[in-house]
Amino acid sequence: PETGCLSIVVLGASGDLAKKKTFPALFNLYRQGFLHPDEVHIFGYARTKISDEELRNRIRGYLANDKSSPQQLEDLTKFLQLIKYISGSYDSEEGFKSLDKEIATHEISKNSAEGSSRRLFYLALPPSVYPSVCRMIKKCCMNKSDLGGWTRIVVEKPFGKDLESAEKLSTEIGKLFEEPEIYRIDHYLGKELVQNLLVLRFANRLFLPLWNRDNIDNVQIVFREDFGTEGRGGYFDEYGIIRDIIQNHLLQVFCLVAMEKPVSLKPEHIRDEKVKVLQSVMPIKDEEVVLGQYEGYRDDPTVPDHSNTPTFATVILHIHNERWEGVPFILKAGKALNSRKAEIRVQFKDVPGDIFKCKKQGRNEFVIRLQPSEAMYMKLTVKQPGLEMSTVQSELDLSYRQRYQGVTIPEAYERLILDTIRGDQQHFVRRDELKAAWEIFTPLLHRIDDGEFKPISYQPGSRGPMEADELLERAGYVQTHGY
Ligand code: BG6
Repeated sequence: PETGCLSIVVLGASGDLAKKKTFPALFNLYRQGFLHPDEVHIFGYARTKISDEELRNRIRGYLANDKSSPQQLEDLTKFLQLIKYISGSYDSEEGFKSLDKEIATHEISKNSAEGSSRRLFYLALPPSVYPSVCRMIKKCCMNKSDLGGWTRIVVEKPFGKDLESAEKLSTEIGKLFEEPEIYRIDHYLGKELVQNLLVLRFANRLFLPLWNRDNIDNVQIVFREDFGTEGRGGYFDEYGIIRDIIQNHLLQVFCLVAMEKPVSLKPEHIRDEKVKVLQSVMPIKDEEVVLGQYEGYRDDPTVPDHSNTPTFATVILHIHNERWEGVPFILKAGKALNSRKAEIRVQFKDVPGDIFKCKKQGRNEFVIRLQPSEAMYMKLTVKQPGLEMSTVQSELDLSYRQRYQGVTIPEAYERLILDTIRGDQQHFVRRDELKAAWEIFTPLLHRIDDGEFKPISYQPGSRGPMEADELLERAGYVQTHGY
């Protein structure tokens, strides 16, 4: 790994994302020794006029999770001292010039030449300001690469609202930065069990011959939250559940479940395969979509009274290739449901010529629970222990908490920020991948935006609209028992 002076700039430093995700991830990296005080300085940049101390106070509460630990409190104090705040607008040269000056001061204080540090810009900002911020960084704050180091920018979703706007954004940013300098974060790619998918699929002989249309009946990729839009109604209403969760988080998981084996683990090889599988997705059919909106969603004062925005969606994707033809991939996401869970359910076909009449017990199903409590379990039919020859459904169970006691599973953002510092783009979305993802959903999204597709109302705390369960059944999913 590269060493030397490192300058991390968090733009949008006083916002929600920075407070809740970016700074806590940086603090955890610091505590584990990945950000060394002899090398690193962190700069917060935002419009609000506050002092260094005020920013530190604003984020302090989000950082220490064990206030009784003297070590952690000491780490916290030292970490906060590394943070400096600069206020300025997102399109003012003056602001970015003073930011550059601060970075240079840091470089000089570390006995480095001005412009020689590794400069990481984290845009914890709405995409509407990405182009102007990128222009300003390019104009005022670039590292001088002939002195070593680099400049990288990290951007968050939503990258646009549809194919056209996403391409426009990509083109504008692409004129300023090369693809290897751009890190498009999708934090689902930083989750332990998402990162495990490639290993699971390609390092286990067991799965290789089974992972196809001959053996798998259907696949579900599900995201549920047991709370509503809570204070984010204004943002959410503009985007809706498909843009917020399905087009990015679930589709990334879908890629890793469905793609072919990459040539190697090189980021470009992996991303090539993801693009291919996305390009093999057929147009979405109306009868394979169910949209919902929870009752009470429009009571949020920032949500328009007649909002048509879905807070729930089930969408079935079909892949037109040799491996998957005929296998429905059911992507489902919803807010204000009965539980918080994200999981992948791979359901196998019935056993041909069944002599046990065990269909009523259910099928083999392989479940990968991404959160909470990471786990993988395989539903199997076994003999009911005892004197009778009867069958029962049971599980081969790998629960991470039990199996890996004492191992801390890193937060997604922590891993991904470390990847950006190390220059590893494996878990980041490439431009053509993003384009292919928008191509899949844009026609449906336009129809929803035009009011042609209305969401069905559902009770908060429920499973979502009944119609979604009916669609699941039509797609071939068989409810299994146990677990
Ligand atoms: C974000 C969405 O990207 O992911 C939120 O904007 C959602 O609406 C969140 O709540 C879920 O992330 P996680 O890691 O809690 O599943």
